[in-house]
Parts: sequence; structure tokens; C-alpha cells
Amino acid sequence: MAFSEKQNEILKPVENAPHPDPFVRRHIGPRPADADEMLAQVGFKNLDELIDAAVPKNIRLGKSLDLPAARSEHEALAELKKIASQNQVCRSFIGMGFYDCITPAVIQRNVLENPGWYTQYTPYQAEISQGRLEALLNFQTMVADLTALDIANASLLDEATACAEAMTMCHRLADGRNIFFVSETCHPQNIEVIQTRAKVLGIEIVVGSPEQFSFTEKVFGALVQYPDTFGAIHNYSGFAEKAHAAGALLTVAADLLALTLIKPPGEFGADIAVGSAQRFGVPLGYGGPHAAFFATRDEFKRQMPGRIVGVSKDSRGRPALRLALQTREQHIRREKATSNICTAQALLANMASMYAVYHGPEGLKKIAQRIHTLTQILAAGLEKLGYPLSNPKSEIRNLKFEHGPSYFDTITIALGDKRATDVVELAEAHQMNFREIDDHTIGISFDETTDENDVAEIWQVFKGDKAIGFTVDEIAADLINTGLQPGVKTNDDIPAVSTASSSARETVKTVSNSTTSNTGLKPGANENGIASHFARISPFLTYKVFNSYHSETEMLRYIKRLESRDLSLTASMIPLGSCTMKLNATFEMLPVSWPEFARLHPFAPLKQTRGYQILFQQLEDWLSEITGFAGISLQPNAGSQGEYTGQLVIRAWHESRGEAHRNVCLIPTSAHGTNPASAVMAGLKVVAVACDKDGNIDVADLRAKAESHKANLACLMVTYPSTHGVFEETIKEICEIIHANGGQVYMDGANINAQVGLCRPADIGTDVCHLNLHKTFCIPHGGGGPGVGPIGVAEHLVEFLPGHPIVNLGGENPIGAVAAAPWGSANILPISWAYIAAMGPDGLTEATEYAILNANYISKRLEDYFPTLYRGRKGLVAHECILDLRRFKSVTAEDVAKRLMDYGFHAPTLSWPVAGTLMVEPTESESKAELDRFCDAMIAIHAEMTAIETGKADQQNNLLKNAPHTADMIAADNWDRPYPREQAAFPVPGLRDYKFWPAVGRVDNVFGDRNPVCTCAGMDTCVS
Ligand SMILES: Cc1ncc(COP(=O)(O)O)c(C=O)c1O
Repeated sequence: MAFSEKQNEILKPVENAPHPDPFVRRHIGPRPADADEMLAQVGFKNLDELIDAAVPKNIRLGKSLDLPAARSEHEALAELKKIASQNQVCRSFIGMGFYDCITPAVIQRNVLENPGWYTQYTPYQAEISQGRLEALLNFQTMVADLTALDIANASLLDEATACAEAMTMCHRLADGRNIFFVSETCHPQNIEVIQTRAKVLGIEIVVGSPEQFSFTEKVFGALVQYPDTFGAIHNYSGFAEKAHAAGALLTVAADLLALTLIKPPGEFGADIAVGSAQRFGVPLGYGGPHAAFFATRDEFKRQMPGRIVGVSKDSRGRPALRLALQTREQHIRREKATSNICTAQALLANMASMYAVYHGPEGLKKIAQRIHTLTQILAAGLEKLGYPLSNPKSEIRNLKFEHGPSYFDTITIALGDKRATDVVELAEAHQMNFREIDDHTIGISFDETTDENDVAEIWQVFKGDKAIGFTVDEIAADLINTGLQPGVKTNDDIPAVSTASSSARETVKTVSNSTTSNTGLKPGANENGIASHFARISPFLTYKVFNSYHSETEMLRYIKRLESRDLSLTASMIPLGSCTMKLNATFEMLPVSWPEFARLHPFAPLKQTRGYQILFQQLEDWLSEITGFAGISLQPNAGSQGEYTGQLVIRAWHESRGEAHRNVCLIPTSAHGTNPASAVMAGLKVVAVACDKDGNIDVADLRAKAESHKANLACLMVTYPSTHGVFEETIKEICEIIHANGGQVYMDGANINAQVGLCRPADIGTDVCHLNLHKTFCIPHGGGGPGVGPIGVAEHLVEFLPGHPIVNLGGENPIGAVAAAPWGSANILPISWAYIAAMGPDGLTEATEYAILNANYISKRLEDYFPTLYRGRKGLVAHECILDLRRFKSVTAEDVAKRLMDYGFHAPTLSWPVAGTLMVEPTESESKAELDRFCDAMIAIHAEMTAIETGKADQQNNLLKNAPHTADMIAADNWDRPYPREQAAFPVPGLRDYKFWPAVGRVDNVFGDRNPVCTCAGMDTCVS
């Protein structure tokens, strides 16, 4: 078809032209006309002028970032799909702590893919966080119940780091002991992460067989895997007794699903249980993010790392949840904190707890039984084919623990003369991945997705692709008829706890039809097919919440009910300083659920993960360009882990130069609490550096400290722009001082949102920097995680970047692994990729400029009410501002935070880094309308505060002290407050259109900490 001249004219500009709807205009809140108005208010003609004034000239980048041009959302997704399609999704039988599973669709759509859940922040403001606090309390209850320990936390980063946290907790509790025993049958990544952690702390790790290990008075703890990495279930009760007799503590890394069938660690003497909740409905995601768990005995609750949800009461005396015990303890205890964990894995913990709510105890047991039964059938068939079960550790094979080993879902198969690589290769041709344990041994693990077709196909592979000659049904029937339980030698001494019944026979049969089941029984096996001495007898998940929502309608409503109690970005801005709560665009989130990204095992052969490798390479290149650094490691799975990793890299560099003694880390007093906590974890000694009256690092003090510690100076940790919200002019000089005294400069890049495209950490003179991809690069906060904290390093440090025991990556002289998975939380990296791809170099820079504009606009609009505490050059702030409330004597910053809830807002960061202040970070994504709504609320609250200060309103019984006001308070028959209901609940007219109601009144923190109850038991007691 020929176009007319006019049509040609119209089409011309379309040639090679970008899509008319650039993503940058969706990501950035203020419209161009609004920006002009805002700039005028701040006193500048245009953005360039503002940025020139705000950012020191001597650090400006002076060129555009060398990144691919911006793509539209649609184009970025199409490109990402192409990349994803280069991943090959095979069925995984690798195990090793990672299992495919089925995410119930009601949870996938309404939690994982729901911004009402994934855009929330860590629930520090309890009154508007009751939903996720309840889901996390369910998680804690689930973990405590399944492990049979008293108390559990609200998640850790992954199983391997949880093991390391357990070790350091035991170390803290031990007086002067320094040996930690690790069973050689732990997952290799658990062993390596522990070794990395132990080395810099001077802890000696002994890896060996529990049977042969002798406890001495130097041993403070031990770690065993249950079931172990080769699938064997051991009876560790004797080992626990030995540990305790020697004054050591026992940690058990356990499989949560197995614990529905086998004796829980708390019942055989474990002091701590750790593990991963991944297989409770959280996709494999090429290694993460997944929620790890940590449970312990009551007496150690104040030593436990991570966040803990506890039950308390609100101003009406009703049960209310809150973060308990050591909340924000890093800010208070700094280098004495129990751990550096800040962002954890809340969203994934919530998914796992919802999975338990959805299935209930019986449903979970059935899933476990089905897996175990299929594993038994597999093992029986393999034996029939001439492949006996084996164990690569001969000591383990000969273990005399009570009645010999058993297994749950994992078996290890001896191939005789046959080569494991040949079997693995044939399996791959069948789109299946086995674990190659050694030259002649294979490991196979089953999971919730395994069915009888898989079993038959595995047999076929072992038969060299020939017909097998028997069926799953026949083997299942054999199991019943012979009473054989594969993998456990018949031992007639062991009494059966339950007798074989015809119904059991029936159920095994139905397994081959993919239904849930019991299993065939043998003497000594209980009804689950588990040897009776290993079998779980104690009940679990008996609370109402785990036994109520088993229809999808009920489940959906439960999820929605909890969601409605939480304030997320779907309701209003969350102006938390230092948290960068920007847009998490929907298109950026879509790839997370694509099976090509979600269903890969972290140890799948690299040739199957080409798509991921391309994504990592591009993202690393882009982050290198953005930071100016030569190398990037994507492994650390939170900012805190990036800090720790960067410190280890610095230590390794000093060591390589014969200066291993350098162990002093300078940290400004304004630093985030994770900085000193991480430095201590890396074996460094923290020396504080003062800040001056303008909030800047006191350069004279820094110089004096650097010089006096010259002989041992390892590094400085510096946040830029500072946590006081200013671009310090002296940053280059600061770096020079540190280098001149033999140290390295670590930049905490949590505030990189004020730098991207304007300046770069490497150019400024720093050597290492972590980035919080869950801040600047759009990974949502998930209500307290997941996060990704990659580090960038200068050329001389590249060789030390983290490695991994299974997948070859990292530098030539790696510090070891710092996370369970080679690329940490790989599944959420497509989010940051999509953001950078769609913004392009100019869009990213513009975002930074708008972040600075928005912060300065708020600072300016509120200056007559709440002056900004610290300003940089020309009276400007960077991307956040600290509002000073300290002149008010009768009302506190906390009162304002609670009153903001009545106005529909989440509070800014409260009393950090300066007590009595609120730190506001609006981000570039908030529109002028939303910024004005926030400023209007603050100004209105200012009037309410002034009324209290001047005596016009009562000092105690007032709008602020009584905040937040719940719907039932407002609707109560007797209203005895000295102000109208209307003013309490609808102080500005906009709230008539949309009102977010806090679920509970002000939560009593003191009561909660005095009476710590951290499971559903607390709710039940309070309710009664
Ligand atoms: C300045 C700063 N540093 C470090 C961190 C720790 O990061 P993460 O919570 O990812 O561990 C934060 C988190 O808020 C931060 O604001």
C-alpha cells in the first residue's frame, strides 16, 4: 500500500523515534510544569542550576553515563523475555537445600505479585503494619512449632548465613572458647559461608564426622544438618548430650517440610535450629530470595539475631503486634549489636507462612508424605535395577546412631563402575538435573512438584534409556507386600508404632495417581514410612489460624484482610529517610514470576542458565558504569551483607600486602547502625569519628584518628551523601587522608539515589561501595525484605570478590562465599535490570535531579514550621532532609509520627540519625500533589502542636498523644475527648475521599518488651 505524501510526512518522525510514552515520565512524579513551580519555590530557574548549587563541583561526573539508550516498558520487557528464554528450565532433583515447589496461585497473585504486600516497609510503625506483623507472627509460630523450640525470629537472609549467625551467637555465649564443629554432611554452601565468617573472627572451624568428634573445653558449639546433605536422617540426641556435657551448644540446620514427619530438633536437644523456608511455596529463583529461619530456646531470646515480632497491647488494651526486643538495636548498640541484619526476607517469610495457613498441618504432612513415598518407590526401583543406596561418607555409612540411617526426600545412589557424568548427561537430555556427588555417586532429591512420571523417567535414565520392565504401581505394591522400607535395614527390634493397614496400602497405590498419601509400612516404620525412632509424634500448627482458611475464598479474604491493615505505597508516599521508597513499577515486577527466572535451581548447570548469565553481565556492567568501579559482586543479599563483604575484601587486600594486622575501622557517629555492626562481623575494631555542628564529618577529628591509628588503619566507612542529608564538600579530602594513612575507603551506598549520573563513588576516591538495589534500583522493600546489596570495588580489589563452593565465580583470590547462592537473590535482579534499561542514562540522571528537587521542595515548604537541621552548600539538602522538632517540649517526634497516621501517612524516619527529628526522603517518584498533601499535613500538625505547647490544648489528652485514632474509637458511643471526632479522624478535607484507618491504637512498647510473647500463643492469651 502506498502512502500519500501527507501520510509520509506524518510517519517520518516515527522512523527510529522512541516510543512516545517514555518510562521516565511514569517513574518521575512531578510534571514539567510542576517542576517549574517547585524550582521557583526553592529559588532556582531550572534543574541544572539547582544541581550545580547542591552538588560540589569537584565531584561532578561531567559526562553522560555510558549506558544503553532508554527503552519503553514494552521494549524492555521484550528484551528481558529474549534474555529469559536463554534459560532452560529443567526439573531439578539436585536438592542441597533448594527445592522446586508449588506456589498456591492465591498466594502468588495476592502476596508475591501484589504491591499492597510488596511495597510496604519494615513494620517499625506498628499501628499501620498489623497485617504483615500477623503474617510474620504466623511465620515465627510455624517455625517454633515445627522445630519444637520456644522462639523464632521473623526471618534471616538464607540458610547459610543463618548457620553463620548461629555460630556467632553461640560464640557470644561462650567464654573464651573458639572452636566450632561443623558436620561434613552439611550442605557445602553452609560450610563455606561459616568458614568465611569464622576466619576473620579467629574462630577455628573443625569439619568432620559427628561420630568421631570429641568435644573439648575449647569447643563452644556444633552444627549438624538434618536430614543431611546426602539425605540421611541421623539421631543426634547422643551428640547433643555430648555437646551439652562439654558446655557447648548444638545448632541443627533442618528441613522444615521434613519436620512435619521427623522428630523436631527441639525434642532431641538442639539449642538452635536454622534452615530455609523456601520450599513452603517460594520459587527457587536461581537461589533467592528465600526466607531463612532461626529458632532457639527461650533463655537465648535476647541474643537472637534479626527482627522478632511480639504481642503487646494498644491504647485500648487490645492485642496489638509490634517488633519486639532488639528492634533497631544496631542504632542503639552499634558495634555491640547481636548481628548486622537489618533488611531480612519479610515478603518471603509471609509467603511461607501463608503457605502453612493455606495447607494447614494436615495438608503439609500430606505433601511431605507424598514426597517421601515417591522417594521410597524411587529407591526400591533403583535397587531392583542394581543401584543400591549409598553414602559417600563411609563414616556416615557406618554410623551406629541407634538404629541406622533413614531418609526423607533425598537418596544417594552408588553407580558401581558407571560414571556419574554419563548418568547426569543422559538425565539432562531428559530435561532433568541430578546431583553429581562424586565420580560414581549420584544424589536425587524429590519435592512437591515430583510425580510418578518423574520416578519412571529417572529409572529409565539409570537403565541407560532402555525399557525398565516394571511400573511405579508395581513397585508401590511390592513395598506394601514386602513391608520393605528402602534405605532402612529391617531391624526387628524396633517396635512398630502403627500397624500396616489396608488403607495404607490403598494410599500408596493412589500415589501413582498423583494424590497425597500415606505409605507402605514395615516393622519399625510409622505410618509415614519414617523409621519410628525418627518419627514425629508431637502435634504442630494447632492454632486457629493454621486450621481455618483452607478454601480459596477464605484464604483470599484472609490475605486481603491482613493487607488492608497495612499502609503501603498503594495508599500514600512513605517518606522514610535513608530508605528510598520510590516507585516499584509494575512492569519491573512482571519478570520475577516468569518460570524462566523463577524455576531455576542455583546449582543448575551453567549452560542451562545462559539467560541469567547475560543478565548478570549486563547488570554488572551497568552498575560498574554507574559507580565507576572495576568489578561488581551481586552475591550479598542485603545492604548489611554488602558492608560485611566489602570489609572482608579490604581485609583480604591488606593481608595480601603483608598487612593483616590492619584492623581499625573509622566510622562517623552519624553512620547507620549496620556499619559498626558489620565492621565487627568482619573482625574490625570500630573507632568513632565526630561530626561537626553542621552535620559534616569533623575533618580535624578524622585526621587525628587516622594518624593516631596509622599503623593499624584498615578503612573508613562513609555514607555519601551523609545520613545527615548533605553533600559534604570535603569528601575527596577525607578519602585522601585515609589513603595517606594506609587505609581504604568504604562507601555505604545506601544514598546512591542522590549520586546516579551526577557523581560516582570511584571517582570521588573510594575503594568499595555497596548499593541497596532495594532502594535506588527499585526492588521493593517487601515489608522488610528482600534486598540485594551488591558491592562494587576498584581494580586492585577485584581479585578478592566472593566465590562459591559449587559455582565457579568471583575473584582469583576470593574471600569465600558470603551467601548461600552464587548470585544471592538472583530472582529479583531483573527488576533492577528493567529499571536501568527503561530509564536509560538521561532518565537515571533526571531521577537523581528530581530526588534532590523533591527533598529541597519539602525542606523549603516546611522551613517556617520545622526547620531542616542540616544543610549543605547554598542552604540546600541532598535527597533527604532532617526536620528538627526538638524545640517542642510537650510533644515528641513519635507523637507526630503517630498523628501522621490519622492524616493517612507513614511517618518519616523517626529520631535517626538525630533524636527528636524526622528524616524525610520523598524520592523522585512522588508528584507535587503528594508532596503538598504531606506538607499540608505537617503544617496542620504543627498548628496542633502549637496549641498544645501554648496551653490551648491539654498536655496529655490531645490529638497527638491520643494518635492514632481508629475507626472504632471514632464510632464509640461515648466520646470524651476535648476535641471533635471530625478533627481526630478527618483533619483535612481530602480524607473524606480516601481514608486509611490504623488498625489499632498506639501500641504499648514497654509492655511488649516486659512480657515478650512471640508466637500465636500470645494472641490467643491476649484475646481470652
Ligand atoms: C545508610 C544505610 N546503610 C545501610 C543500611 C542497611 O541496608 P540493609 O537494610 O539492606 O541491610 C541502610 C538501611 O536502611 C541504610 O539506610
